[in-house]
Amino acid sequence: MAASDIPLSSLLSTLRGSDLFQDLTAPEMDDLLIHMRMIRTQKGFEIIRQGDSWDSFYVILSGRVSVKMRKGSKTIRMGNLGKGEFFGEMALLAEQPRNATITSEEVSEMLVLKKAEFDTILMKNPTRAHKIRNAYLERAAKNKKKRVL
Ligand code: CMP
Repeated sequence: MAASDIPLSSLLSTLRGSDLFQDLTAPEMDDLLIHMRMIRTQKGFEIIRQGDSWDSFYVILSGRVSVKMRKGSKTIRMGNLGKGEFFGEMALLAEQPRNATITSEEVSEMLVLKKAEFDTILMKNPTRAHKIRNAYLERAAKNKKKRVL
């Protein structure tokens, strides 16, 4: 994992194009830029490991990651996430360990927010909080269904 060197102009246009950040006001964008961190991960890097404790929320700026869940000796592939999508919200909202392992499937760049900024920049805004909670509920329902099968 390395610090990303994605240019600021390209970062801004990616954020404006993402469902989550498209309606950020200029002061909110400044606040986000001050508090976020950017990382770059190589193919095969485990960004989140199932069972770990939580601290951060991630938005994919480029590349692709896979989502896999372990159940006993079985590994269930839950799909991939790509540019503009986010992960890491479930443990932060539920205050429970990470429920899946997220691995970089190619060189990928991500915006990272600590829990305190996740709460103040994202969850205090009703529209963004709604989008994040919806993703949480959809993912939780999908995971529940897969575990039963
Ligand atoms: P968290 O539990 O913090 O860490 C693992 C993350 O994987 C989880 O948050 C979600 O962001 C993501 N995740 C879990 N299940 C799914 C799913 N079915 N589809 C997409 N992403 C998921």
